[in-house]
Amino acid sequence: MNPNDRSSATGELTRRDFVGVGVAGGVIAVLPAAAQTGQGPGGTVSFSLTINNQQHEFDLDPRLTVLDLLREHLKLTGTKKGCDHGQCGACTVLLNGERRNACLMLAVMQSGKEITTVEGLAQGGQLHPAQQAFIENDGFQCGYCTPGQICSAVALIEEAKSGAPSVVTADLTRTGPIELTDAEIRERMSGNICRCGAYDGIVAAVRQAAQGSAEGTDSTRPNRRGARNLFGPQDQPAPVLRVSGSRA
Ligand code: FES
Ligand code: FES
Repeated sequence: MNPNDRSSATGELTRRDFVGVGVAGGVIAVLPAAAQTGQGPGGTVSFSLTINNQQHEFDLDPRLTVLDLLREHLKLTGTKKGCDHGQCGACTVLLNGERRNACLMLAVMQSGKEITTVEGLAQGGQLHPAQQAFIENDGFQCGYCTPGQICSAVALIEEAKSGAPSVVTADLTRTGPIELTDAEIRERMSGNICRCGAYDGIVAAVRQAAQGSAEGTDSTRPNRRGARNLFGPQDQPAPVLRVSGSRA
């Protein structure tokens, strides 16, 4: 008797039976899910996103990450791929104004949300105050990590303003904005790795952008040069762009 069929005579589950049941179970588990997500015959799924104030309609592979969607399908290559595992922060973007690692998000799961990349920070030909601060403080060397650092900086300034504490915040009972000391900046930027070690310049840049924000040159509201609110209602929505394909 084949050892793989050894227990068939006793009514117990054989190895071959087990594999068969597992494969069949997998098929049963996948088919309803595909139907529920509206997956088309080509293995694609329809979803929509607003990216840098531009509405997009997609019909793409549901396994696609936001990072690959941005870089491979929209050619927004400012957002960088470092580790592709959520460990370096090079892919940081803003999702509804909050920072997220684009390599860890499936694009289809963000349907209906608004994404801002480093390309969407400058407005009307004017750099965002955080971008300007990185230049003025030598906050980079090779620049590979810089788009993610800047997106993180923009979001963390708002986090501190809203009173969200970090692990180094001394007084957790206090309400109101939290002062962005160097220790706070280093802790809050710790998810963004810089292999060039430009950390002193990065901290100085975030400090300058935060001070400008506190003085009214807000990181997300119109700046002194009249840039538009990044996350508020926009006066002239751009036409919808449609992107389809099957490559993950
Ligand atoms: S590429 Fe996303 S965290 Fe490194
Ligand atoms: S500037 Fe080179 S990795 Fe940060």
